Amino acid sequence: MALAQQQTGGLRHARTGIELRPGLDGVPATQSAICDIDGEKGLLTYRGYPMEELAVNSSFLETAYLLIWGELPTQDQLHSFEHEVQMHRRVSFRVRDMMKCFPASGHPMDALQSSAAALGLFYSRRAIDDPNYIYKAVVRLIAKIPTMVAAFQLIRKGQDPIQPRDDLAYSANFLYMLTEREPDPLAARIFDRCLMLHAEHSLNASTFSARVTASTLTDPYAVVASAVGTLAGPLHGGANEDVLAMLEDIGTPDQAGAYLDHAIAEKRKIMGFGHREYRVKDPRAVILQSFVEEMFDEFGHDNLYDVARALEQEAESRLGPKGIYPNVDFYSGLVYRKLGIPRDLFTPVFAIARVAGWLAHWREQLGANRIFRPSQIYTGSEPRVWMPIDGRVSAPAA
Ligand code: ACO
Repeated sequence: MALAQQQTGGLRHARTGIELRPGLDGVPATQSAICDIDGEKGLLTYRGYPMEELAVNSSFLETAYLLIWGELPTQDQLHSFEHEVQMHRRVSFRVRDMMKCFPASGHPMDALQSSAAALGLFYSRRAIDDPNYIYKAVVRLIAKIPTMVAAFQLIRKGQDPIQPRDDLAYSANFLYMLTEREPDPLAARIFDRCLMLHAEHSLNASTFSARVTASTLTDPYAVVASAVGTLAGPLHGGANEDVLAMLEDIGTPDQAGAYLDHAIAEKRKIMGFGHREYRVKDPRAVILQSFVEEMFDEFGHDNLYDVARALEQEAESRLGPKGIYPNVDFYSGLVYRKLGIPRDLFTPVFAIARVAGWLAHWREQLGANRIFRPSQIYTGSEPRVWMPIDGRVSAPAA
């Protein structure tokens, strides 16, 4: 046996004594000054500011500025950042034409990944040591990603994308481009807060992807495209889509306990529950839940919320003792559903927010770069002698 299970949860390699931690659980892969999580207390800070304070006092663009440049902007800095983002919202007709060639049945995350990578073709000067280039790339990515998400939504319905409206703020403009209606101010405000909550979360899978890609000194469009691809998976950002399907499957609050028992007996994961970092309810889930309730007061109730609450209550005794509680994805879908966002856009909306965190990590990585190149523990066969083809017997695939 090459690898022996350790009490730490790791695996020790018999020959070298090196410990392997699957999923790099608990292994620091970098240092970072961007975001801090206390998973025991359920605390989350961006650049030292508690999430709860930002969610009430800040805006997504101000929070993005804070994450990326390290300090809250002055009035002039914020004004100029917002203005630059507004000036760069439009995407080339070539990008829109490219999207028209995508299959309408394709997932919007795949469309977003391809379009984000395509931006690198249009802005191909890879001057990653030039502060002006970095500023412009940050502005372009934050400005254009929402436009591309909304454009694909209309294109796949056979419609022409709507141009951004300069008189609308960032979040209101996205909802307008998506739904073709100027949003209610409460809807726009809640959406903006959702973006803040999702903007950054330390070295999660997509951010790690972003940093690994950044460490090769490639362009920021490739950095973001690789992170989008990683975010798409159902164990990461893609879980928010699956949560709604699960709640619909459960149907009514009185079925929540039986659903849990069945899923646990079959060793299935409950979507929207569990987190590598948190042993308590994710603080973002707490805030998102309050948004759901705030929206119901104004826009009417959603029965799926009752199912979600029942599931959370039933899960407390079954999963709570293992430190498994609702994560950010558990209530976000219920908010987005009320905002009229189609289910398969939940993860692209997550990407609209998380691009701020990815770009903050891109800058930080460039500031003290060393290419990521971890080692591995080889578990394959010992060196062996070449076998000519007519002497081989078929073996089951490894
Ligand atoms: N439902 C039931 N059991 C769970 C869940 C869950 N959602 N999450 C973890 N567990 C259990 C596992 O079965 C395992 O139990 P065991 O030790 O008895 O075998 C134990 O808790 C540890 O689980 P891991 O999968 O090893 O935990 P890990 O830290 O690797 O995974 C993850 C974290 C991927 C988030 C996991 O909790 C999960 O798959 N959750 C469901 C998907 C989800 O909601 N993802 C979104 C996460 S937030 C985000 O990425 C934006």
